[in-house]
Amino acid sequence: TNELMEKIVSLCKRRGFVFQSSEIYGGINGFWDYGPLGAELKRNVKELWWTSMTRFREDVVGLEATIIMSPDIWRASGHVDTFADMMRECPMTRKRVRADQVDPVSGVVYRFTGAKAKATGFTVEKAFAFLLKKGEHPESARKKAKEFYALGSIDAGMKDLAGIELIGEATSAVENSVDFHPESNVMLSEARPFNLMFKTYVGPVESEENVAYLRPETAQAIFAQFKNVLETSRQKVPFGIAQVGKAFRNEVTPRNFTFRSREFEQMELEFFIKPDEAIEAISGTVAKPETKGHPGEPQSNWGWQMWHQYWVEERIKFYDNIGLPRTTLEEYWQKPEELAHYARATVDLLFKFPFGTQELEGIAARSDFDLSQHERFSRKPMGVFDDDLRAAWAKLDDVKKQELTKRYYEARARYLTKTGMDSEKAAKKAKEDAEGLAKGQYIPHVIEPSAGVDRLILALISNAYAEEEVTDDKGKAETRVVMRFHPRVAPIKVAVLPLLKNKPELVAKSREVFELLRREMNAFYDDGGAIGRRYRRQDEAGTPFCVTIDFDTLGEKPELLNTVTLRDRDTMQQTRVKIDELLPMLLQRVR
Ligand code: GAP
Repeated sequence: TNELMEKIVSLCKRRGFVFQSSEIYGGINGFWDYGPLGAELKRNVKELWWTSMTRFREDVVGLEATIIMSPDIWRASGHVDTFADMMRECPMTRKRVRADQVDPVSGVVYRFTGAKAKATGFTVEKAFAFLLKKGEHPESARKKAKEFYALGSIDAGMKDLAGIELIGEATSAVENSVDFHPESNVMLSEARPFNLMFKTYVGPVESEENVAYLRPETAQAIFAQFKNVLETSRQKVPFGIAQVGKAFRNEVTPRNFTFRSREFEQMELEFFIKPDEAIEAISGTVAKPETKGHPGEPQSNWGWQMWHQYWVEERIKFYDNIGLPRTTLEEYWQKPEELAHYARATVDLLFKFPFGTQELEGIAARSDFDLSQHERFSRKPMGVFDDDLRAAWAKLDDVKKQELTKRYYEARARYLTKTGMDSEKAAKKAKEDAEGLAKGQYIPHVIEPSAGVDRLILALISNAYAEEEVTDDKGKAETRVVMRFHPRVAPIKVAVLPLLKNKPELVAKSREVFELLRREMNAFYDDGGAIGRRYRRQDEAGTPFCVTIDFDTLGEKPELLNTVTLRDRDTMQQTRVKIDELLPMLLQRVR
């Protein structure tokens, strides 16, 4: 599987999907650039998400907020206080490692995967012994071994150490590399929280009050703008706000290619729903899921569990639609003890990446935590008025009123105490909130499907990658590398290829076909090299269709005048198609 990952990374670079950021200066860890093919792929993915979320739905609207926002947002959301990993810092090298990656006895720092590193027993002494064996002078061997493992020049070290029998397989050495601080028992400092948000200053003065953060998620802007969107969009709960954009996290161990980056993009939806008590007051009952699977078209009596399950299924359907079939995904329902403090339930959609089955998207039921936090911190009301609720409430009998009020009161008090409010204050505020319910007022709850663009791109690339044994024109066996992207996401939809480039009539006709297609889809014109070679290049780019203009197109066989060959990437079958019918046929297949 590591071999597969290497092939993918190398294809990404060779074909211009993904480059290392700042490569000419040695790169910068955790940052990646998308080349010509990657940029198209990414645009397609974001466009498909956006269209399916907003334009195809009447109950979701879009937002595009700034990356830098008031730091108060991050105090309210909890990111300033809790968005952190526990770290230890070496005072000499100033290098930080996650506290749970330090062996308390030996001081060995397991940089990546602690358990695996232990299992291979990969230590600085072994590296030292290896370098001696290779004929290094003891002094320089000691220095190098320390450097490789103590000072973090892991990549440089690994290149030298690849293939060492002493420490097992080279690949596992890379994967399980450990970092060794010889004096670490003395030097590794107290474990301290290390916030993952990137900090900067707004304005010319670099003072504490000018500190701002690059957003670590796009979600918070949606909550902060909830009232503005509600008032301007003519939406009523239940409805959602969608956003696509950059997020930044100073990840301690960025790794697995683009999977964990420090700058990445998210596609997030916050879908606001009524609290169950309001639904019960209006509809008499609250619908809860009885079976797994898609619950169908939204109904007014759906409780949060129903909405949650609905969105899990909607998201799986989305992936299925763009070429990640349901069978490539796994649903992981977090256990109660794994849930974030604000979450009532979270489902992770996992994908089997070449380096392991890992999270692609999280779908969380976040209760009314976020809007409540912003109400508390901003002192601006985040509740909504609901005429249906007010009217329905008036018709309830007293027993029902009391029961619903009590339940809502308890839920609010629980939340308020959780956020650290003293119990007396919390009781008072919860009572007010519960009285609000009777007047048709509540703070909406939220279901949040949150996906990473870059992870999805990596999943699509891994899933598309295929190698096949085929025979070339001369009957010789060869390996064909083909990216089987769904035509909807494929960076290039169609390549237009004149059979020969030195025949002006062929070239003129090809340009004419190219002009016809490029207005409607991303088309690529290629006249360089043998036709078989050109097909292979398109296979590697994942282009689903190739159109070839030959002498028959020009009427060498009169019955084939103005027809072209259309080659299918996956079957490699070629069919003859009239130029007049080409565009509608292709449009149907790439949309
Ligand atoms: N608003 C909720 C939220 O941000 P998250 O699980 O921290 O939740 C959501 O992030 C998604 O964003 C993840 O499922 C993943 O796809 C993507 N993501 C998070 N951190 C990432 C990173 N360092 N690099 C690439 N993608 C990341």
